[in-house]
Amino acid sequence: MRNPIIDVGAKELSYEIREIVDIAKKVEKFGINITWENIGDPIAKGEEIPEWIKEIIAEIVRDNNSYAYCPTKGLPETREFLSERVNERGGVQITAEDIIFFNGLGDAIAKIYGLLKRQVRVINPSPSYSTHSSAEASHAGSPPITYFLDPKNYWYPDIDDLEKRIKYNPAVSGILVINPDNPTGAVYPKKILNEIVDLANEYDLFIICDEIYCNLIYNGKKQHLLCEVIDDVCGLSLKGISKEIPWPGARCGWIEVYNADKDEEFKKYINSIYKAKLIEVCSTTLPQMAIPRIMGHKNYKKYLNERNKFFEKRSNTAYKKLKDLEGVIANKTNGAFYMSVVFEDKYLNGDNSIKINDKRLKEFMESQVKDASIDKKFVYYLLASTGICVVPLTSFCSQLNGFRITLLERDDKKFNWIFDTLAEKIEEFIL
Ligand SMILES: Cc1ncc(COP(=O)(O)O)c(C=O)c1O
Repeated sequence: MRNPIIDVGAKELSYEIREIVDIAKKVEKFGINITWENIGDPIAKGEEIPEWIKEIIAEIVRDNNSYAYCPTKGLPETREFLSERVNERGGVQITAEDIIFFNGLGDAIAKIYGLLKRQVRVINPSPSYSTHSSAEASHAGSPPITYFLDPKNYWYPDIDDLEKRIKYNPAVSGILVINPDNPTGAVYPKKILNEIVDLANEYDLFIICDEIYCNLIYNGKKQHLLCEVIDDVCGLSLKGISKEIPWPGARCGWIEVYNADKDEEFKKYINSIYKAKLIEVCSTTLPQMAIPRIMGHKNYKKYLNERNKFFEKRSNTAYKKLKDLEGVIANKTNGAFYMSVVFEDKYLNGDNSIKINDKRLKEFMESQVKDASIDKKFVYYLLASTGICVVPLTSFCSQLNGFRITLLERDDKKFNWIFDTLAEKIEEFIL
């Protein structure tokens, strides 16, 4: 090339959740049957969409309007429907104009960070969902700035750590919160959300709250939304249908903008996000047409309850099987459908390993984990010895060694096998 064309931020882009698929495909060629536990796609894991939802979508497919572009911010009646749901919570009040649709939250996330001034930082949780941390760091051209989620305190944010990081990094202008959280499955109490809002208030920051899992909460935990606690602070709530309906292939999510009129700079920033969508024209029309019909349907609440009961059962079984193992910290998940397990440092050294019977496969895996983190070694060896494909925790912007696994497996027997095998392999790796 005549000029160097690669941006400094490019090296911050990584998404191990999908990158591990290449390795797993190679392992498959050695005759190993892969159990995909790396990605949060309920449909890929065999969840069936109920007939009444399929009928709504089939009806929309027959409507010529579903083939058209829609307004840039999204269909007005759908935004109206969603803004009313926010207002019903009794906190911050919005109108349909405060909602912008995107082609999935992945699209929203790219724009949210991409349109910030390069020097400005949004502090991420650690561990963090890698789409956020990668997009933020790539935009800034340097590694993420993070605050600690504490596995010894139900994976709740360490508020003292958050405050220190904000105080000593003047570039931090926003706080990212993911609630319920990916990758930990934690659901935050109102007190913690209030403390984050207080910090945002004190340091004049905005809040980004990714609430894509806000209706996937169980084990008796209560849902507390950003709109209920935000007061006068500027903020964005990110929501979508990928996990909730679940319809990830629709590529449909939206942002709700809170208190844009309270700060001129924030208002201009939101306008730049809108303009970026404007030059793309709009987001997918068909799923937007479906949202009020599905979420407003008489069966919807019951349907969500049934799904949550399923994940509650999965959460409790997984916790029971891992909680007493020596050398790991396992928390019970209360929302979303992931569990993160941490290896305690004192159990880790150069000798941690899992037996791989096939000599050629063993050599291949060894070549792949040279200089890798210890948790990546666990994940790769687990894959080669059992076919179970999980994701190393260090790939979620974390210093902690561990892994993330999904709770999505539909078949009870297979689910038990996955977690029994996992427990066995953890013991082999640690001891
Ligand atoms: C916390 C979180 N936010 C956003 C997304 C992306 O959602 P979408 O399918 O709308 O791009 C995911 C996907 O796993 C997620 O876990």
